[in-house]
Amino acid sequence: MTPHPSAPAIETTGLVKAFGETRAVDGVDLTVPTGTVYGVLGPNGAGKTTTVKMLATLLRPDGGEARVFGHDVVHDADAVRSRVSLTGQYASVDEDLTGTENLILLGRLLGHRKPAARDRAAQLLEAFGLTEAANKQVKHYSGGMRRRIDIAASILNTPDLLFLDEPTTGLDPRSRNQVWDIVRAVVAQGTTVLLTTQYLDEADQLASRIAVIDKGRVIAEGTKGELKASVGAGSVHVRLRDPERRPDAERLLRDLLLAEVTLEPDPVALTARLNAATSDSAADQAARALTELSRAGVTVDNFSLGQPSLDEVFLALTGHDTGSADGTDGTDGTDGTDGTDGTGSDTKDEVAA
Ligand SMILES: Nc1ncnc2c1ncn2[C@@H]1O[C@H](COP(=O)(O)OP(=O)(O)OP(=O)(O)O)[C@@H](O)[C@H]1O
Ligand SMILES: [Mg+2]
Repeated sequence: MTPHPSAPAIETTGLVKAFGETRAVDGVDLTVPTGTVYGVLGPNGAGKTTTVKMLATLLRPDGGEARVFGHDVVHDADAVRSRVSLTGQYASVDEDLTGTENLILLGRLLGHRKPAARDRAAQLLEAFGLTEAANKQVKHYSGGMRRRIDIAASILNTPDLLFLDEPTTGLDPRSRNQVWDIVRAVVAQGTTVLLTTQYLDEADQLASRIAVIDKGRVIAEGTKGELKASVGAGSVHVRLRDPERRPDAERLLRDLLLAEVTLEPDPVALTARLNAATSDSAADQAARALTELSRAGVTVDNFSLGQPSLDEVFLALTGHDTGSADGTDGTDGTDGTDGTDGTGSDTKDEVAA
């Protein structure tokens, strides 16, 4: 039973974990509402896994408090364990067993009778696109298949709270999209998901709220919109009809919007980073720019308004980039072959002019 039925899924205050001299988690305050995906975004070594392990009762905090659905993770660890499931950064299924064998075994360990365990295994393998691989040993799975069987194993019993620790690190774009669809499906069934990621576009795609952590501390928290708004107003991307007019367009945008203007490799394209310091909205600034270009006789074939990427958010918050192996925002990490929208984090609303 939940002592506080309306308690948030997770609430931490001043959470601390030290390993010797290293304060891996250094006073983390988090509130995760139920029924959503909450993103914890941070580079290598930021303290993501350590935080998750404390919340999942696998590590004892050295300081502060953490509650899961109102249960204290130290004093009420059994109650927490009954409500949560963890898909670790390093998968925990048995390499030598097949997909089916793994899921049936884990189902039996969770107390399901054999027919029920077998049915649930088949159902999950089907839902995760692993039916064909069901009778192969997991050691022969690809990275993407492996990640999917690991998530399947963690939702054999539908948990109230699922921790997904970097569920797509190292996956190709297609497998990432598949995992994202799985996460969306899990949340649609009412599970709260705490997702850690180093991928800015992943948090952007999945999470309602995001905490950015760096060196064991939360350095920003809010909705994606709030985070982006705290950094900049976005940018206007313009394509002209006539490449000869690009210098005029560049001068005009710079003077009018007080924007930083970048010339694209495409000789008719340029991008103006909008000024966040004015009270004008990004749309108003863009509209003004188009009016002035038209008045100056510069024909615009196409323009789009883009929000700042989360990568830019991180840079603005920390003064350094994400420092991860893949420090890009992942905008090129989509393959567009599987019918998903395939957008990166720089969401553009295309408008033909
Ligand atoms: N068991 C441990 N013993 C000693 N130091 C540890 C231990 N676990 C983590 N650390 C250290 O704590 C810090 C945070 O590590 P953590 O694994 O939580 O980071 P992370 O954000 O999950 O990083 P990654 O993105 O690489 O998974 C790092 O400096 C790490 O070296
Ligand atoms: Mg980690």
